[in-house]
Amino acid sequence: MTYLNKIKIFIFVFMFMLFSFSINAQWNIPADAKNKKPPVDPTHTLVKTGKDLYKSNCASCHGTPGEGNNIAAIGATDLGSGDYQHSHSSGQTFFQVEQGNGGMPSFRDKFSSDEKWCLIFYIKSFDKDFKITGEELKEQKADLRLSLIEKIRTVKAYATTKDKSGKEIALEGADVQFFIKRMFGNMQIGEIVTTDNKGIASIKIPENIPGDEEGNLNLLVKFKDTDTYGKAIKSKTIKWGTKLEIVNITDKREMWGSLHRVPLWVLFSYLGMTIGVWLVIGYVVFQIIRLKKL
Ligand code: HEC
Repeated sequence: MTYLNKIKIFIFVFMFMLFSFSINAQWNIPADAKNKKPPVDPTHTLVKTGKDLYKSNCASCHGTPGEGNNIAAIGATDLGSGDYQHSHSSGQTFFQVEQGNGGMPSFRDKFSSDEKWCLIFYIKSFDKDFKITGEELKEQKADLRLSLIEKIRTVKAYATTKDKSGKEIALEGADVQFFIKRMFGNMQIGEIVTTDNKGIASIKIPENIPGDEEGNLNLLVKFKDTDTYGKAIKSKTIKWGTKLEIVNITDKREMWGSLHRVPLWVLFSYLGMTIGVWLVIGYVVFQIIRLKKL
């Protein structure tokens, strides 16, 4: 190969790289994608979800929106900047996140459509015209029912809630806490249990929990997240505690016992000493009398 040919190939490769780079840099955004609108209105919760997704998936390249700590060298823009917000509609941003381009990965399959819209809401929340226009979902109120399985000392809590039509359904994924009521505050037993797909959270009551004289324990069950599920607290008396033995301290022979209940060694040493002293006194008196007679 001649020297000239080498240069030709070099130039060709160089031109090819430049060309492909310029293709890469070009976003091809269809007009209808730009006008695409989110299926719901933004709420605080949705923006928060978007923020969490953004932090773990986008911040590494794009930085914190509005702070300019993006990696500009690879072409990742600050998505919070006024410039960006100005020139990109929500629909366009959605399209770009789905599609990816050059150094920008495609997130089409990584996130559900809802998750992607949450991301867009978060990015768009840096727009000066952005407003929270959606209503938060209504609080999901729920209820609890308890049942006991004596044989295995297990308490089952059934968590239910109502669906849109008012029908009672099992509540999955709610954290339930179990307590034993005590004179001062409540004692939590075991870990927090999350309800399964039948709405059930169950816990085994450990042995050796001191109860009252009959061994009764006062069980309390509630949702951990009372803001979401409401303040349903269910209580039940269970007989799985150990019986409390009431010991009367004056029943036993003790130092502080009354006359009849002092310990025997105290009694005998007391008697011994007293008798001894009287014997000595008697002996002295006896000797004095004998002295007189002499
Ligand atoms: C590996 C680094 C990297 C990650 C991670 C990344 N991006 Fe990008 N992003 C880029 C690069 C590089 C570009 C520029 C691509 C181009 O213009 O060809 C870009 C472009 C964009 C654009 C278009 C910007 C414009 O000016 O048109 C948007 C919107 C975007 N990214 C959103 C996101 C979101 C949302 C995430 C997280 C889900 C994300 N990116 C994650 C590197 C990244």
